[in-house]
Amino acid sequence: MSDRMVQHGGPDGGAAIHWDFSTNANPLPLPDALVQALNAADRRRYPDPGYAALREQLAGRWGCRAGDVHVTAGSAEAIRRLTLAARLQGVHQVWVPEPGYGDYRAAAEALGMTVRGWRTEAELRAALERHGSLTEPVLCWLCDPNNPTGDSLSTDTVQALVAALDAGARLTVALDRAYSPLRLRGEDPVVSRCAVRFWQLWSPNKALGVTGVRAGAMQAPSLPAGLVTASWHAEVARSVGLLAPSWVLSAEGVALLQAWHTEPVQNWLADARLTLAEWAAMQRAMLTARGWHCAPSDTPFFMATPPWLHHRGPEPTGLDRSLQLDVRLRARGIRLREATSFGLPGVFRLSAQAPVAQRVLLDALGHWRPGPQEGLPHHDQERST
Ligand SMILES: Cc1ncc(COP(=O)(O)O)c(C=O)c1O
Repeated sequence: MSDRMVQHGGPDGGAAIHWDFSTNANPLPLPDALVQALNAADRRRYPDPGYAALREQLAGRWGCRAGDVHVTAGSAEAIRRLTLAARLQGVHQVWVPEPGYGDYRAAAEALGMTVRGWRTEAELRAALERHGSLTEPVLCWLCDPNNPTGDSLSTDTVQALVAALDAGARLTVALDRAYSPLRLRGEDPVVSRCAVRFWQLWSPNKALGVTGVRAGAMQAPSLPAGLVTASWHAEVARSVGLLAPSWVLSAEGVALLQAWHTEPVQNWLADARLTLAEWAAMQRAMLTARGWHCAPSDTPFFMATPPWLHHRGPEPTGLDRSLQLDVRLRARGIRLREATSFGLPGVFRLSAQAPVAQRVLLDALGHWRPGPQEGLPHHDQERST
C-alpha cells in the first residue's frame, strides 16, 4: 500500500474494531426488508449488463430519462469515472471543497489535473466569477452535507453555479449526495430544479448501514435546450457511459439499489434519522461536558476539538496529545477519525454512536492520560475521507 493512498475511517487492516466512531455509516441494525433483499440477490448469474430495469426504476424515482442514470460500484468509483470523463473532454482544472472528501483530489491528481481547494463558499463564488471570463473548462465538486463537517451549502452558491451553467460555462458541477439521506436538520439546499443541472452522485450504502455493498448511481445533468455547451456536456456524459466496466454493479448492489426507495426501507430510514439525532445530541453533550468543542453539523457526524488542542505549552503538544489518544484508543478497539488528513490536525471527526458505545468512549477518555511522546503514526497531510 502506498502512503499516498486516501485515508478512510472504518477497517484499517489492524485489530478488530469494537466501537467505531470513525466511519459515517449508519450504525443501526439493518431493516428486515433490506436483509431479505440482499439475501435474495441472485449470485449465480451476471446482472443485466444494461441494468435496464434498475435504471428505469431510479429514473422513475428521479423524474429523468433512464439514459441519464449511470449505475456505479459506489461513489468512490463514480468520482474516478466522472473525473476521467471530464479529463477526456479537455478539463484540466478541478475545484474541491476543503476540508472535503479526499477522493476528489486524489482522482484529479492521478490524472495530472490541477486541483484548487475552496475553503469557503465566498471563495468558490469568486472563482466562479473569475471563471466567467475564462474559456478553460472546470470540474467543480460539491458535497452536501459535506464530509467531514456536516455543513450544508447555501442556496446563493447553488444558484450562482446554476446561473453559470445556464450562461454556457464549460463547467461540470458534481454534487456528491452521499449524506443527503442522513440529513438530520434543515432543508436540502439543492432543490430539484437546480440539482438537475448538476451531476448527482448517490450512494445509499452509508445511510442504510451497508458500506460493504459497493453500489451507487449517478444522475447526469439536464441543461437548457440550445445551450452552446450542450454538445460538450453530452460528450462528458457519453464518456461516463463508455468508461463503465461491464457489470460494474454486483447482484447485491442491484438488490440494494432496488430496495433503497421501497416503503419499509424509507420508513426505517426516517426512524433512524430520529434516533441518530438523539444519539448525536447525547454524544455532543457528553464531549462538551469534558471540555471538547463540537462544531455544528447537519449530519450524525461532526468535528470535535479536544480541550488540549489550543494549549501549545510544554510537551506533549496538543497535536501529539490527539495522536496519542487516537493510537491508545485504537489499541482498545475504539476507532476515532483524527482529522490531520483533512487539513485539521488534532481535531476529530466523530460519528454518532449508540449510548453503549458512548459510555465506552467516556470511560476511555476518563482513564486516558497522555504519556511521553511515543512512536506516533505518520499521517498523510494531503488526502482523506
Ligand atoms: C463524501 C463521500 N463520497 C463518497 C464516498 C464513497 O462512497 P461509496 O462507498 O459509495 O464508494 C464516501 C465514503 O466515505 C464519502 O464520504
